[in-house]
Amino acid sequence: MSETLLVARGIRKNYRMGSSVIEVLKGLDLEIGEGEVVAVVGASGIGKSTLLHILGLLDRPDQGTVHCRGIDLFSLSQRERARWRNRTFGFIFQFYHLVPELTALENVILPVMIGNGTMAWSGKKKAAGERAREILVDLGLEGRLKHRPPQLSGGERQRVAIARALVNDPDLLLCDEPTGNLDPETSTGVSEALWRMNEDREQAMLLVTHDERLAARADRILRMVEGRLEERGASIDPDPAG
Ligand SMILES: Nc1ncnc2c1ncn2[C@@H]1O[C@H](COP(=O)(O)OP(=O)(O)O)[C@@H](O)[C@H]1O
Ligand SMILES: [Mg+2]
Repeated sequence: MSETLLVARGIRKNYRMGSSVIEVLKGLDLEIGEGEVVAVVGASGIGKSTLLHILGLLDRPDQGTVHCRGIDLFSLSQRERARWRNRTFGFIFQFYHLVPELTALENVILPVMIGNGTMAWSGKKKAAGERAREILVDLGLEGRLKHRPPQLSGGERQRVAIARALVNDPDLLLCDEPTGNLDPETSTGVSEALWRMNEDREQAMLLVTHDERLAARADRILRMVEGRLEERGASIDPDPAG
């Protein structure tokens, strides 16, 4: 059995809209082992992105704890949490979220720049550039390094986003419907690339997806129901209610 990387306990999250309260996460528990790949499936609007944002420290829960390698992440200062976010987690979003004014290479270098102070950065700039280039080339983008996102196809943009998520060598990749915006053929190519990069690096991955074929490759599949996660077998069950 692998060591535990991340443990979330009793996560609750509500959104307030005027006078009404939407209860999204209702005491959710989750454990992810080092190097483990966990897929999360569930209906649209059920709270999958909300969970990913909390685990990746982009948002906070109303209640509950997230421990990573024994550290209680929400008890840390904002500054320390930012450091964890930058070093420990890599994000891949459905809509890429690249900076349109920067080139592909610059987009990938950005997290390294953010993770280092100005002094440290000047010493690391060259190595960071080389590393970013190496990952982009590995993803088949050697001819696109100086392209800006608007000049790239959807599949190419998502490959740049994968490279950006990997550049700081995170322990956990958080992927929010990474192929959800792509046509089936491009989607297959991007999934293969993501899988290959992940296998090479042996990183843990939490993968939200509607793509059954992608989910089926995970070590475990969890379904989000009623604000919690339940184990789901690997077999495809298109109509669990019926
Ligand atoms: N910032 C927000 N303010 C208010 N409601 C939100 C906010 N973000 C998400 N929601 C609501 O919370 C629910 C869960 O959203 P989300 O986590 O994005 O679901 P999923 O990713 O599973 O589609 C939805 O009903 C959504 O409308
Ligand atoms: Mg979502």
